[in-house]
Amino acid sequence: MRIDIVTIFPEFFDVLDISLLGKARQSGLIDLGVRNLRDHAHDRHRTVDDTPYGGGAGMVMKPEPWGEALDGILRPRTDAEYATDGADAPTPLVIFPSPAGEVFTQAMARELATEEHLVFGCGRYEGIDQRVFDDTATRARVRLVSLGDYVLNGGEVAVMAMIEAIGRLIPGVVGNPESLVQESHENGLLEYPSYTKPAEWRGHEVPPVLLSGNHGAIAAWRHEQQLERTRRVRPDLLPPESTHAESAP
Ligand code: ADE
Repeated sequence: MRIDIVTIFPEFFDVLDISLLGKARQSGLIDLGVRNLRDHAHDRHRTVDDTPYGGGAGMVMKPEPWGEALDGILRPRTDAEYATDGADAPTPLVIFPSPAGEVFTQAMARELATEEHLVFGCGRYEGIDQRVFDDTATRARVRLVSLGDYVLNGGEVAVMAMIEAIGRLIPGVVGNPESLVQESHENGLLEYPSYTKPAEWRGHEVPPVLLSGNHGAIAAWRHEQQLERTRRVRPDLLPPESTHAESAP
């Protein structure tokens, strides 16, 4: 997967050199490009923001640097690419993190992990001039995506979280694909609690069923733990009729 990021803080993404995603880059599973938006601002101060038309607090990111930065990424396909990919080849997907966007979920991460080319545009200040979204939508698919119902100072942290959630779902990035199946949100429930050795630690014991060797009983216990935890912490994830213990399967 190709990933491009446009930001005024390229160094934010240095951490993508390490850990699983760093390995995925080294092995070519993820091809990452980070661009500094200020490289596309041509005044002496490399200005990327200005006051909002209509008044109001804060600053808005100017369209011209964004237009130029995205021109460099969303270049028209060459004749040769057109010939091999065909007229219907998908355009890149450009994601602008924004508290005004659709909420990022594990289902969205799964969907985005199948894309060939993702572009992330990190806004700062009070946001980006609306015409940047409108213009980009004429040559690519555009989505505004929110990390959750709170406001960050800019899109960088949201993009880091999204890239980590998406990147680990790209086949080959996580060594043991089984571990992706057993985690929170994969079956619509929160994950069950995990334990390792020793069997007793500071007076806390591992639930005896996990030491029993009875795989059926262990699977049933884990499923019950998932249901109990989800009901208690995130009842909104369950269908309405299963939020009460007595009606749960
Ligand atoms: N930028 C600022 N707040 C954000 C949020 N909640 N999600 C994504 N991008 C943001």
